[in-house]
Parts: sequence; structure tokens; C-alpha cells
Amino acid sequence: MSASPDFLQILKLQHPIIQAPLAGGGDTPELVAAVSNAGGLGFIGAGYLSPEQIAQAARNVKSKTTRPFGINLFAPSAPASLSISPDAAIRRVAPYFSELGLPAPSIPAGPIFSFTEQLGAALETGASVFSFTFGLLPSGAIQALKQKKIFVMGTATTVNEAIELEKTGVDAVVAQGSEAGGHRGTFQGDFSAAMIGTISLVPQVVDAVRVPVIASGGIMDGRGIAAALALGASAVQLGTAFLTCTESGVPDAYREAILNAMEDQTRITRAFSGRPARGIVNRFMTEAESGGDQAAILPFPLQNALTRPLRTAAAKSGRAEFLSLWAGQGVRLARRQSAAELMVRLVEETGSAIRQLPGVRSYESVRTKSGAATN
Ligand SMILES: Cc1cc2nc3c(=O)[nH]c(=O)nc-3n(C[C@H](O)[C@H](O)[C@H](O)COP(=O)(O)O)c2cc1C
Repeated sequence: MSASPDFLQILKLQHPIIQAPLAGGGDTPELVAAVSNAGGLGFIGAGYLSPEQIAQAARNVKSKTTRPFGINLFAPSAPASLSISPDAAIRRVAPYFSELGLPAPSIPAGPIFSFTEQLGAALETGASVFSFTFGLLPSGAIQALKQKKIFVMGTATTVNEAIELEKTGVDAVVAQGSEAGGHRGTFQGDFSAAMIGTISLVPQVVDAVRVPVIASGGIMDGRGIAAALALGASAVQLGTAFLTCTESGVPDAYREAILNAMEDQTRITRAFSGRPARGIVNRFMTEAESGGDQAAILPFPLQNALTRPLRTAAAKSGRAEFLSLWAGQGVRLARRQSAAELMVRLVEETGSAIRQLPGVRSYESVRTKSGAATN
């Protein structure tokens, strides 16, 4: 596997493979530690966690590994305000609450902790890498992270976002292609215009910034990793591939949905959280968005809070039709195995994908011949 040796050395990794932060419960301490123990970088997705939960999650990871791990937060944004009445959104979800025997939905409360408090906790976790999505970090935050010698990575979905991130002093950029599962990191302009596929996005970002680029979105096996490295990525970040690992914390119904899904069965939706995210199409996604009534979906994170009781109850009763089944377009390649097994497979597959590239020998001979000609 040929990733930038500097990047691997700086982060003390054996393999250029990062387990994406999987906020919402996918990234259990067992999963994070297994990936780090296998020579990759495990990540705690802490965007929804309180400062106390962040500290606890990191303690749990550190009890299972002494290897480096990362922590991820959502970049701070202006508090979501209810400029519209929440009535339409509440009416839209109410029948599903009653179908699951839940009390009627009510106006959701915003988060009770701030980004500053979350960052304060993250700084004390002992994580060697900090990544973020949904925007830029205030300069004080980057300084605080650097003072602790924490490697900082921001998420970009366009070249311009990557350039903006580099200007703020990040150490690396995660280039998130449109195939990616979960929320879009887009923070500038129209999110639909920023739906750039990984194979287009990565080399254009690599050409535009000096910091290392991590390719993310639709990468599920060694062929994808080899392709991303060939495009100039220093490492890859896989989300969906790790969600079906035995250590992942997703409900069984979610894992089964990924294992049975096809590449044309995911879609971008705002129905669950109020922010565009890619997941497997299910009943809630289809029905909540029908009629085109955008007023029936609250801004992030209020819609997320509104639908949380529904998703929690659905997880308990195995009702995949009400779960946010975040997954990328590579779903058909998902496998059920332990994270350690997946890591070994990814490393082996990447090596053989590079060696077995059709025509590699003919390119080699072109290189040798042209080299010989100049001698
Ligand atoms: C369930 C799930 C949760 C995610 N949570 C986060 C998160 O908290 N922070 C983040 O930066 N990215 C998050 N992502 C996006 C990943 O970082 C990454 O871009 C994506 O998983 C890559 O695409 P793939 O799923 O096709 O591998 C999440 C993705 C999924 C599938």
C-alpha cells in the first residue's frame, strides 16, 4: 500500500485506513479500538455527545487500545431558530409516533451543551487526531487543538471548501464525495451543487491544497483504496464498510438493511435530521418528504431531536422503516465480519488491486523504454 509516508508517520499508523466517525452509536469503543489496534485510525463521532459522554467514550476506547485514535465534532453553527411554526413538522410525524405507541411529539429542545464545552472535553481525551464536519472552526479552537499537539482535519465537499479549510490552518482535508453515507459536510453554497463524486473530487482537491487529503465516500474494499491512493489521497476514510462489522453499535435491523441493500437504494434526505444526508430509502424517508412541503421539516438539529424518540423506539422494536439508515452508495459491497478481519482484508486487497491493475506491465514497459531512451 503506498500512502504518503509522512502522513502515516505523523499519525503513527501502519495503514492509511481511517474508520469514519459514526455519530449516533455506530462507533462503539470496541469498533474504534479494534481499528486502531489493527494499525488504522479508529474515530469517536462525538457530535451528539455531551462533554461527560465524550470523556467516558474516550476512557472506554483507551481501556481497549494504547494506539492513536481520533475524535470528531460538528463545527459550530448559528443556533437553529424556529422562524417557522413547528406545527406542520409535528403533524407530519405524529401518526408514526402513535403507530409505535409513543406519546404525541412535541416541540424539540435544542442541544443543552455548546460546541465550546464539547471541544473542551475533546481536548482532554488524549485523542491524537481531531476532525470536524459541517463548517469551519473558530481560530481559537484550532489554536487550542494545536497547543495540545492534536492533528486537525476538516471536511470538504468542494475544492473551495478545501481551500477555505486550509486557510484556517487544518493539517489535512477529508474530501467527502457524493457517494458518502451519512450527513453531507457541505458548508458553502448550495448543497446539491456540491454533490461531487469521490473520483472527481479527490484529485481536484489534491491539486488545490498543500495539506494531505483523505478520500471518503463509497470506498468499501481494497480496489477503492487503491483507486483513492492513485488519485493522490494520503489515506481513506470508510464509514459504511465499518457499520456492518460485528463491533458496530447499529441495531440489527439497520445492519441487515445495509447487507441487503443495492447501490440504487440510497438517497439524500432531510426527513430525519433537517440536514441533507444519504441513507437507505425506507417508509419514513419516502412519506415524510412526500408532498414537497419543506415547512414540514425543521432545521438541523431540531428535526433530529423531533424524530429521535421515533428512531429510538424503532431501534428497540426492530422497525427499520423508521430508522435513519445512513449508508453510502457502496452498500452492495458491505460484509459482515469483525473489524480486525475487515482491516486485514482491506490491506491485502489493496496490495493485490495495485499489483493486478490491467496493463500495469505495459505502463511499466513504457516507463522503462522511455527511461532507456533518455540514457
Ligand atoms: C452512520 C454514519 C454516521 C456518520 N457520522 C459522521 C460524523 O459524526 N462526523 C463526520 O465527520 N462524518 C460522519 N459520517 C460521514 C463519514 O465521515 C464519511 O464521510 C462517510 O461514511 C463516507 O462514505 P461511506 O459511508 O460510503 O464510506 C457518518 C457516516 C455514516 C454512514
